[in-house]
Amino acid sequence: MKKIVFATNNSHKLEELRKLTEGKIEILSLKDINCDDDIPETADTLEGNALIKARWVKNRYGYDCFADDTGLEVEVLNGAPGVYSARYAGDGHDSHANMKLLLSNMTDKDNRKARFRTVVALIEGDDERLFEGIVNGLITYEPKGTSGFGYDPIFQPEGHDVTFAEMNAEDKNSISHRGRAVAKLIDYFSL
Ligand code: IMP
Repeated sequence: MKKIVFATNNSHKLEELRKLTEGKIEILSLKDINCDDDIPETADTLEGNALIKARWVKNRYGYDCFADDTGLEVEVLNGAPGVYSARYAGDGHDSHANMKLLLSNMTDKDNRKARFRTVVALIEGDDERLFEGIVNGLITYEPKGTSGFGYDPIFQPEGHDVTFAEMNAEDKNSISHRGRAVAKLIDYFSL
């Protein structure tokens, strides 16, 4: 069976991918290939960071690989926090501080339009491919709900009157940015 590395140690993402590719592709994690490198994410685009991670694994470990990178892009803030979503309020990945800063930067803004965008970079042999998943929505005025992670409590996807944090994981995954990018990747693998 074809083996491919998913350049992540996020167990939720791995689990999801393994379920979707069961019997078709064997998905290895960074741990499975004994990689505990702190891979630098120094690009200023999602595409750039996803490629850095996938190329790192391909070049140093020799495996075909895919990697993902996600950002929340707010229209009235010219696409911020975007590629800097994880560290919008500074280093340390504190979702609460990130949401607080975003809401305070939007206090007087009527335009609440935003989107989550995920880019998956796939490297097979010499071939590099990108897959994109987008979900449009609105930034709420205050956090609502307790499920999920990151900016979920302040993001209301288009066509819904609840935030991602008020949805269960299955419903969120079926419409989410990452769900959509991964669906394209799985489609490509099924060819
Ligand atoms: P990553 O590229 O998947 O690590 O995502 C970067 C950052 O974007 C995370 O640290 C979160 O702040 C945010 N983010 C990514 N995906 C989601 C999501 O599904 N919901 C809420 N926030 C997310």
